[in-house]
Amino acid sequence: MCGIIGYVGNDNAAKIILDGLKMLQYRGYDSAGIAFHSGQNVEIYKCVGKIEDLEETLGNKGDVFSCGFGHTRWATHGSVRQPNAHPHFFGKVTLVHNGIIENYKDLIDKYDLKDRLQTTCDSEVAAALLDIFYSGDPFEAIRKLLEEIRGTYAFVVMFEDIEDTMYAFRKVSPIVACSHEDERLLASDLMPISLMTDEYFILPEDTVLEMNRKGITLYDADHNEVRPEYRKIDWKADQYDKKGYPFFMEKEISEQPEAIRKTIEHRITDGLPDLSKDGLDEDFVRDIDSIEIIACGTSYHAGLAAKVIFEKYAGIKTNVSLASEFIYSGNIFSKRPLFLSISQSGETIDTIEAVEKAKKAGYPAIGIINVKDSSLSRICDVSLYTDAGPEIAVASTKAYTCQLSLMYLLAFYIGLVKGKVGRDEARSLIRELQKLPEKVQEVIDRKDEFHLLSKRFLDHKDLFLIGRGPDYLALLEGTLKIKEITYIHAEAYASGELKHGPIALIETGMPVIALMTQDELMLKESSNVKETRARGAKVLVIIKESLLPHLGQKVDTILIKDYHDDFILFVAVVILQILAYYIAIDKGLDVDKPRNLAKVVTVE
Ligand code: AGP
Repeated sequence: MCGIIGYVGNDNAAKIILDGLKMLQYRGYDSAGIAFHSGQNVEIYKCVGKIEDLEETLGNKGDVFSCGFGHTRWATHGSVRQPNAHPHFFGKVTLVHNGIIENYKDLIDKYDLKDRLQTTCDSEVAAALLDIFYSGDPFEAIRKLLEEIRGTYAFVVMFEDIEDTMYAFRKVSPIVACSHEDERLLASDLMPISLMTDEYFILPEDTVLEMNRKGITLYDADHNEVRPEYRKIDWKADQYDKKGYPFFMEKEISEQPEAIRKTIEHRITDGLPDLSKDGLDEDFVRDIDSIEIIACGTSYHAGLAAKVIFEKYAGIKTNVSLASEFIYSGNIFSKRPLFLSISQSGETIDTIEAVEKAKKAGYPAIGIINVKDSSLSRICDVSLYTDAGPEIAVASTKAYTCQLSLMYLLAFYIGLVKGKVGRDEARSLIRELQKLPEKVQEVIDRKDEFHLLSKRFLDHKDLFLIGRGPDYLALLEGTLKIKEITYIHAEAYASGELKHGPIALIETGMPVIALMTQDELMLKESSNVKETRARGAKVLVIIKESLLPHLGQKVDTILIKDYHDDFILFVAVVILQILAYYIAIDKGLDVDKPRNLAKVVTVE
């Protein structure tokens, strides 16, 4: 997953490209580069590090160019070093690439490239092939390249002898583009576009985009012109501003009450769930006999939590699969499964490929997605969009709470349609759901308290999080937040499982977080805490207020105001988000751009 931006227009190409790359850094940030077409040749500047490092490398050398592209990288093939940064060049060809060419090694052999390459990158192999195939006709060279390569790609290419012009073509990896007055822009996603205009189009696969001063033209495989399908951006660029917060993650944690409200309120009519505006009608759900949830990472954790609610209120057997496992497993499905994919970005290749597998088998698929018109939304039969707004921090927060609140609504809706839930019960559940923003705000307002308590974890390399049932599911998500932004090796365990092995890891002074919010699980969870403390663990218990008298032991606690047992895990997850955030802050880490990660995982 890398970020690409290309620009042709006035002579401020460098600034537009660099500003755009900064907005795309969440897609990958281990190295960056930029290339300009001077009219006679192509100049390349690239370095290891972030866009700010590239700015330093470039200095004011880019101030005169009006045509160029840039790339920010998350390394797939080839280590993080300057030659492996994009753009890559070979002969007359300079290109940037997002994706993976799976057969690049075969192509190195087939075209005897071994001694002619500077790097071990698949992208450089693509540049070499294009140069070999290029004899003045870029479309012919591109056509031949596409006959040879296998994999996923978004390529943007400049040819040394074609000034002020670039070409783009893609398969799975995203490219969007726009034309505004005498400026042209293409990018891996809509953020840079939103600075220039609110009208854009998605570059269709199997077409080649030609972009120059005259404009943007699309051609199909037979070189017939293809009319771009323009769409409207429905949010403002200023949503990409930190608005005074030190990190996007803190801003996005704080946005959760409003984001949840925006996601659920317009889907409630007369106190009942109403998904008709999403295009999900009763017939679509009436006959389903199982739900197959497919997702990755935080979205997968939202799916695990949603499973409990689908089974309890929709009365439907629900399976939750990691998309990357689902693709390769021999699945047995019920007669009428509904595939439910969950993805903040809508670009996660594992999830896309898993849904494509379901669609190929003839099953209906819906998506719980945050980014409109994303690749996943284009293959789902129905997309239910969360209204979280752009989520920039790599660590997903508001997407999780919005995904889950939307799936609660969906579960109540299906339960109503299938007669599992009566109207009165549905209204009562919706009222509980509508309390969510206020309940989440309450814990956000206590962030200083949690910040103080988080300091106990700073010097530890390991952390156990234990809980049962919904508490365990909340801890799985909290654990991922801690892992990905604090680099502490946190593991969530179902408390009942501790004695079957993991408790062997408990040592004197080891930090443990225990979550207790469920009335019926309290006593067992309390004895699990005692078991860990008996072995020297230092336990912080996050507990629902009314359960405190049953805790039966003196430990540090975070109290959560009483709330419906089926909804309280939202509040617990937000507390864990905040704890993880402050641990990372106090460790001086880059909270928004953690090492080795990227916001959008478009490689398998
Ligand atoms: C979550 O904090 C991580 N950034 C990651 O696990 C993420 O949830 C996962 O890559 C799935 O992304 P998606 O929701 O955009 O599909």
